[in-house]
Amino acid sequence: MKVVPMSLGDRSYDVLIEAGLLARAGDHIAPFAPRRAVAIVADETIGQHLATLTASLDAAGLGWQAITVPAGEAAKSWGQLEHVCDRLLAFEIERSDPVIALGGGVVGDLVGFASAILKRGCRLVQIPTTLLAQVDSSVGGKTAINTRAGKNLIGAFHQPALVLIDPDVLDTLPARELRAGYAEVVKYGLIDDFAFFQWCEANGAALLAGDPDAREQAIAHSVAAKARIVAEDEHETTGRRALLNLGHTFGHALEAAAGFDGSLLHGEAVAAGCALAFDYSVERGLCLGQDPARLKAHWRASGLPDGLAAAKVKASSQQLIEHMRHDKKGSGGRIPFLLARRIGETYLDRDVDLEDVAAFLDRQPR
Ligand code: GLY
Repeated sequence: MKVVPMSLGDRSYDVLIEAGLLARAGDHIAPFAPRRAVAIVADETIGQHLATLTASLDAAGLGWQAITVPAGEAAKSWGQLEHVCDRLLAFEIERSDPVIALGGGVVGDLVGFASAILKRGCRLVQIPTTLLAQVDSSVGGKTAINTRAGKNLIGAFHQPALVLIDPDVLDTLPARELRAGYAEVVKYGLIDDFAFFQWCEANGAALLAGDPDAREQAIAHSVAAKARIVAEDEHETTGRRALLNLGHTFGHALEAAAGFDGSLLHGEAVAAGCALAFDYSVERGLCLGQDPARLKAHWRASGLPDGLAAAKVKASSQQLIEHMRHDKKGSGGRIPFLLARRIGETYLDRDVDLEDVAAFLDRQPR
């Protein structure tokens, strides 16, 4: 088993990564359940993983109660938050009872936020079942729901007590979702690790074809990278953690323009957004054109959109800029933006002019 420690003082925890771990989850959760009672909130589409988890809880002598929530970004809503909180209260859970989030990033964010506010903070265990959630959203304590005004605008930092990652659950993940999650894997190479980007170029195809070794290596490397960055800047105050949002300003705008209807997955939007961030960096004279070309070649080889045209979002530049203006970190006509000097070297520019970005978007092929 690979154990990646997340070092955050009294909020430290371990991320355990091992093939077949879901079937042994109960043994790892038991030390965190003093009343031997747990609650599970699961994505309604993953009944088979829920059955594996509950069998392992039974075997470990833990009592459990479960609720399901709908799959898809729309579940990160006030309505589902109320539903989850009401049910957890009906279960009479106490602060020390683990609330297990079993599912992808949507469930992790929703249940993470519910556990952050329920009784002013309950114990959270993340069991991510998508590649995206395994390499990014289940680790690091960001939780949130969406509102009409935009994505992730209501939320809290609430670290889990434990994260259990079983790469084998990816066997049943639709290929498109696996590819979308892979964009967040490559992101770690783009941010500050050129050698890992090269590893992705060499091993990405095997990973996407289901090679267990490539999959486990990619997950462990990504989680370790995320743990390192989060430990340096847990609450995203210095700009270090913001690097994890590479491609997300363009990406969130594309997702919002697509209407969160499943036509553009979050990871697909991030892939297109990273390509746009690199192209914009070339326009700003920060980066050589060969870097975006190399990145876009890897996105195409991985079946991911390599820019605006491939993302197939029917929105004008001004509409995309409007979505960016609603970004939670925006101020006036200028917003912080992740830019690139090369693959493996990115930085936060706190003063990008949105009109300049609009002119750049106008020049993009559609
Ligand atoms: N997914 C970005 C972060 O956790 O900071």
